[in-house]
This record gives sequence, C-alpha cells and structure tokens, in this order.
Amino acid sequence: MPTEPENASSSNPPVAPGLGRRRALLAAGAVLAAGVGVAVGELADGEPAGGDRGAGRTAAAGAPPPEPPVRFHGARQAGLTSPQLPLVRLVAFDLPATSTAADRAALRTLLTSWSRTLAAVTAGTGAAPDPRLRADGTTRLTSLVGLGPTLAARLGLAVPAGLAELPPFPGDRLDAARSGGDLLLQLCAGDHWTLAVVTELATTAARSVGATPRWSQSGFLPGTEPGATPRNLFGFKDGTANPDENAARQWVWGPPGPHENATVLVYRRIRMDTAAFAALSEEKQNLAVGRRAGDGAPLTGTAEHDDPDLYAKHPDGAYVIPATAHVRLTGPRLDGGARMLRRGYSYDDGPGDRGLLFCAFMRDPGQFNRVQDRLAARDALNPFVEHTASAVAYVLPGAPEGTALGDHLWA
Ligand code: HEM
Repeated sequence: MPTEPENASSSNPPVAPGLGRRRALLAAGAVLAAGVGVAVGELADGEPAGGDRGAGRTAAAGAPPPEPPVRFHGARQAGLTSPQLPLVRLVAFDLPATSTAADRAALRTLLTSWSRTLAAVTAGTGAAPDPRLRADGTTRLTSLVGLGPTLAARLGLAVPAGLAELPPFPGDRLDAARSGGDLLLQLCAGDHWTLAVVTELATTAARSVGATPRWSQSGFLPGTEPGATPRNLFGFKDGTANPDENAARQWVWGPPGPHENATVLVYRRIRMDTAAFAALSEEKQNLAVGRRAGDGAPLTGTAEHDDPDLYAKHPDGAYVIPATAHVRLTGPRLDGGARMLRRGYSYDDGPGDRGLLFCAFMRDPGQFNRVQDRLAARDALNPFVEHTASAVAYVLPGAPEGTALGDHLWA
C-alpha cells in the first residue's frame, strides 16, 4: 500500500512500495467497536502502539476507552508475544509453482505487502488502510505469518533444518483440504469484523501475486480475566504449563543466528467429543488430564502453577497422576526438558464438529512428533478426540521498524 500522507511523521514508516491502496468500498464512517483483549499487559515485542491514539476520538458517554492496538513491528511477530486476543482466523494459501525466481519474487512482494497492511492496521496513528477499519487506527489485531515446508524447500529458503511436513500418526483422520499450505497467516482480534476485513485485504494481496486461498479456520476463546489461563471445550484450563521466557529461549525460539526470533508452528484441528467427555464423572475427567478441572492444579498439588509430581503414589502403589494421564505423557520430563508454547483456540463448526485448534510453537518440530507419538499410543483423552487437520510452518522473525517480514530470506 502506498504511504498514507498522515504517515509521514509516523513512528511506523512504510516498509517498501506495495500494492495500490484500497479505496472506499463501503459508505464512509463505518467505525468498528474496539476489540477487547483477554489480557492487557503487553510484552516487549507486542508493546502498545504509540501515537496520539486518544486524541480527537468521539466516544459514547461512559464508554471505556478502547484498548491500544498492538504494534506490528518488533523483533518477534506480535501474534506470538502479546496476550491472546479472543478471536482467531487462520488462513492458508498456496503459491502455484512457476519458476523459482518468479516464485521467490512473488513471495517477497506478498510478504512486503502484508507487512505494510498489517503495520498500517495496527499503527495507532490514523493510518487505517481501509475505511471499514477504525479511522483512527486503533484496531486491535495481532498477526503471525509462516511458510510451509514444501514452499521453503521448493524456493531454497534458509529455514530451520528440522522444518518438515509431519508424519502420519495413528488415529489421524486428516482432511487434506483443511491441511498444509505454502503460507499460513494467523490473525487474532477482538471482533469478527476486523478479522473479516483484514482477511479480505490479505487475500486480495495474495491473489495479486498468484497465491490462492487453500483453507481457513475460525476459532475463539472464552471470556477470561487478564492474565488467567483460558479454558478449552472440555472445561479445563489450557496453556498452564507454558514455558517462561528463559525456557522459551531454549525450546521455542531459534538458536542465535537468523532464526533467533523465529519459531515453528504446529497446527492441529482436533475434534472433541465434548458430550461424551462431559458424561464422565469429574473424578474420571481429572484423572484423564492429570489436573483438576476446577482450578487447573495438578492432582498432586493445590494451585494451578504447582509442578505435577509424576512420582507421587497412593498408598496402594498406584500413581496419583495415572500412566495414561495427558499431562504425564506431554510433560517435559519424558523429553529432556523440552517445552512447547501452546496458544490454542476452540472452534465450533456446527453440531458434532467442535474442538481445539491446537497451535504450538517450538524450535524443533520433532518435539511435537515425539509427544504426539506418546499421545497416540495411550493418552486417556484419545476416546474423545480426533485430529482432522494439520499444518506446520516456519514462523518468520518479526519485522523491526522499517523492514518487512522475511527480509532476511533475500539477503
Ligand atoms: C483436544 C486435544 C487436547 C486437549 C483437550 C488438551 C488439553 C490439555 C490440558 C487440559 C493440559 C493441562 C493444562 C496445561 O498445562 O495447559 C494440557 C497440557 C499439555 N498438552 Fe494438551 N491437549 C490436547 C492435545 C495436545 C496435543 C496434540 C499435544 C502435543 C502433541 C499436547 C501437548 C500438551 C503439552 C506439552 C502440555 C503441557 C504438559 C506439561 O508441561 O505439564 N496437547 N493439554
């Protein structure tokens, strides 16, 4: 998108020439309700955008001020570092093969264009790239962009060595039309409108370089207090045992070098038989997970963030956290301490098709394979879950000010 005149003094300068600006398509004045995040504390790379975001805004009397947008630019992509917004839209695209040179150029153009659009949407400087978005540029949106292993190999891109399609797992019922893809875009927002408009802008840009939409998937989180762990549709807190920044540096982000602020996303669409699980007694549910549904505490502890004691036994010798409990099979103890960062969402695509959009980030996708091998063999949740789609993507490092996503690929 071309430079907005009012961006001239912005702290988010344009990154490069891109697509022509979308002009008014709808009646002027379509102003969005502010997206409301599930958490307000921002981390370093997802810090609130600056600018005069409060200036000159007309708000309904008594309405709380809209939350500030999350900056697009940063060392890491904001869709990974900022608190999860309540709604998600994942969109995968394919880039049909022409020549390597032409496809590399197309990818570069698209990444530049997406960067420009996403930065403008979240700039907080009156730079909304579409009249249907908040005119004052305070749209609350986070995003992340990843590249599929097949595309990376075809274009000879320097991606982490372990990036590969996932192997099949026992019990998989994968729908190819909902799986894979050359490019993966994850948009998170506080309202459906923002997701719809930004998806359209991103899709238009993709089509203009010859990329075609492959699948898309929507999801949501329950209303959750800032800082609290959201629940999944089994009613359990999901995301408790996520790594802190120190552990993430070792297990989630790449090693020092070009992938230091990059990671790998493993996405699984997992259908959950919520009715059958709900029919279990609370005790059986807790034993299947290894934690208590109510407070999320491990069966061996009293508070959500207590470490599960996998060695604790009842007087009769049985493990307190059973051998088939989900947290035993997924815990880092079986994996040399390896941890993945889980930022899942629930989905509901109609009767009989609701569940979890498992989105986990890790340095080495082999970690997912090891954990999923164990789960497929004996997880107590297996009778209630079915994996119906899958994708893996190299999540690009963030784009610092003045750069576009993927610039390092062309150096
Ligand atoms: C619908 C399917 C799934 C459900 C309902 C589910 C639910 C849960 C719950 C309730 C917890 C405990 C709370 C927490 O630490 O977040 C948990 C932990 C975890 N899950 Fe899952 N999960 C599912 C699928 C998976 C899959 C496919 C994997 C990876 C292959 C996985 C990996 C993990 C990991 C690594 C932990 C943390 C273990 C720890 O460090 O204690 N989960 N999951």
